[in-house]
Amino acid sequence: MNKNLLSLAQLSRKEIEDLISFAEKFINDDGTFKKESLFPDKTIANIFCEPSTRTKSSFEIAAKNLGCNVLDFDTETSSLQKGESIYDTVDALSLMGVDMCVLRHSESVIHELTQYIPEMSFINGGEGSISHPTQGLVDLMTITQHKETIDDQNIVIVGDLDHSRVTASFIEGISNFDFKSLTFSGHPEMCKSFHNHPKGKYEPDLNIAIEGADVIVALRIQHERLEAQDIVDIDQYKYEYQINSERLAMAHEDAILMHPGPVNLDIEISTMVYESDQCVIRQQITNGVAMRMAVLSQYLSG
Ligand code: CP
Repeated sequence: MNKNLLSLAQLSRKEIEDLISFAEKFINDDGTFKKESLFPDKTIANIFCEPSTRTKSSFEIAAKNLGCNVLDFDTETSSLQKGESIYDTVDALSLMGVDMCVLRHSESVIHELTQYIPEMSFINGGEGSISHPTQGLVDLMTITQHKETIDDQNIVIVGDLDHSRVTASFIEGISNFDFKSLTFSGHPEMCKSFHNHPKGKYEPDLNIAIEGADVIVALRIQHERLEAQDIVDIDQYKYEYQINSERLAMAHEDAILMHPGPVNLDIEISTMVYESDQCVIRQQITNGVAMRMAVLSQYLSG
C-alpha cells in the first residue's frame, strides 16, 4: 500500500469507490462525524504554504476525529521565513516524530520530498495549478450522493480552468468512469490549455455548454495566479459566464452545481443559485471532513 497520496492518477476506479464508501462510514445519521481514537500514536503536520480554509481545517478536524496528534505548522512564524528550505523543514519535523505531512505548496515540491524523506508519509493538499487530489475525491463523493452513478453524466466545468488544480484532479478522477460528456467552458484566455483537450470538448458559449448538463462545476477566477494581460472585465465575465437562474434552468432539471470554494459570490455564481436546492457547495465542504478521514485512515495504515 502506497503511503503517499500525490495525485488521483495513482488511483483506480475501485480505489476511488472504496475511499468514497469508507468516507460515508464516517458520517453519522445526524450528519455529524464519527470520532474514534484509531491513530493515537500518529502525528500529522499541516504545512500550508498557500492560504486555505477548507482543506487545512478539514484535515485538522479529520485527524483529530481519528485521534491523531495534529501539528498546526505556522509557515509565517517558521524558519521558512529565515530561508530554510521546505526539504530541511520537513526533515526537521520527521526527526521530531511527525509521521505524515499534508502539504500545500505553490510549486511541485511534494514529489521530490517523497524521495528526500522516504520515512515520511505525504498527502497533497494542493500543488500549484497542478493537482488537488483530495478535492477531486470530495467532488466525486458529492456526485455519488446525488446521482445513481458517476457514469453516464453530462459534466460541465466552467471558469478559470488554466489555473485550476481542482479541475486537473477532477479530470484524473473522472477518467476512471464512463461519463457521457465532459465540456469545458469559460473565457478563452482562461482556458487556453482546454481548447483541444483529450478528455473533453471546449465550448466558449456557456449557454450552449450548460444545455442538458447533469453536473456543473463552477470555478473561481484565481486572481493571485493571473498575469496582468489575463485580467478580464468582471462585468463582461459575469454576463457571459456567471451561473445564474436562467443558465441553471438550461441544465437538466436535477442538475447539481458544485464549486470547490472559496466562491466569489455574484461573480461566478449568483446568490439566488447559491441558495437553491441544486447547489451542493456546502455539502462539498462537509464531505471534505469525511473524505479526509478516509484518506488519513488509508494512508496512515499504508
Ligand atoms: N477547495 C479548497 O481547496 O479550498 P481552500 O483553499 O479553502 O482549502
